[in-house]
Amino acid sequence: MTLAFKPDETFRGDYTYRNSDAAILRFPFPFPEDRYMYSVNIEPHVRSGPTDVFRRPFDVDEHYIAECRDKAITLERDPSRCQALPHMMLAQWDTLELLMESLAADYPTHFALIKEGDDFGSRWTWINRPLGIEQSFIFGNPDTLPCEPFEYITRQAQGDFAICDQRDNNLYMDAGMVTSQADWSLAFDVGMSFMEWHGPVPLAHQAGVFERALKFLLMLRLGQPMRRLNWTMTINPRLDTSPESYPEWGPDRASLTPDNIGRKLHLRVELQTLWRLPRSNAILFPIRCYLASLDELARVPKWGARLHRVLSTLPPELVDYKGLTRFLPTALDWLAAHDDGRELPIGI
Ligand code: HEM
Repeated sequence: MTLAFKPDETFRGDYTYRNSDAAILRFPFPFPEDRYMYSVNIEPHVRSGPTDVFRRPFDVDEHYIAECRDKAITLERDPSRCQALPHMMLAQWDTLELLMESLAADYPTHFALIKEGDDFGSRWTWINRPLGIEQSFIFGNPDTLPCEPFEYITRQAQGDFAICDQRDNNLYMDAGMVTSQADWSLAFDVGMSFMEWHGPVPLAHQAGVFERALKFLLMLRLGQPMRRLNWTMTINPRLDTSPESYPEWGPDRASLTPDNIGRKLHLRVELQTLWRLPRSNAILFPIRCYLASLDELARVPKWGARLHRVLSTLPPELVDYKGLTRFLPTALDWLAAHDDGRELPIGI
């Protein structure tokens, strides 16, 4: 599969990020119904789904090169965005292996992995053509890579990654590469348990969502990954909306007007997947972020209408938690013009 990368687009400063027509059509629009509420919305991560985004274990798209560059900028400014506690080294190698094997199998034009054996101690060569990388190393020996294996491979992948250690019938966020998050902090959450890091989420605890999700995840099986979608909204196509950089993007919420909101306000959708790792028994949680402006979304008429209905009925606790309060009325006015009130079928 050949991809037409857009290497020069930016996610900060002049914000030149845009979606091509094909990228709009493959956008993982997250609302099959007119209303939205938290649920245990987990399904098998199989090679099928409503758009092409779901068809490969790790989706690579036209923004790949530009996103890897933006990640490098964020890491340069704040190295604490990548952390792994010492007992996570086995899980680091599990992650490197999973990503390298998947990318090489699904995108052979762009990536290749040459292995002289499967076990620790074998010599491997990794080729990443879009980023111009060729690296030989000894699988299992971190000294043969330029940095630790988890950082090495996740610098070359779109999206964020958390690794959860499983012990005492619980999950602990003991490693992460987090540079494109919806306002949460790895430095704050690292080492926390499943209920602790989900502490700030409103309504879901009372509804038993997290209790059921945790029970389910503790039984996640090797080779049977799962997925779910999550969403929020972001002003400008900005990947790094972390608490650490809040002074750089928080004030943008006050910059929206009826004239610029179509261009500036973005739906931010996370395709989250869950993978049991083979040697460490940890769970890898990749969070792949997709951004589309209201202008782009409204080119699919049913999406403009549906987003209007979802936002106008969103529980106030979710409006507040997702940070939409300040600009929601302006967004609803804009979207109302794209909603003729006709009944929409269930599904995207
Ligand atoms: C939010 C991590 C799995 C449901 C969050 C947040 C984090 C997180 C860091 C932000 C909390 C904050 O405001 O500080 C993870 C990790 C997971 C995981 C590492 C992997 C084990 C799940 C699962 C569910 C879930 C399986 C299924 C129900 C949610 C919901 C929110 C949330 C509903 C609120 C999102 C929003 O409204 O924007 N998660 N999560 N999470 N998580 Fe998870």
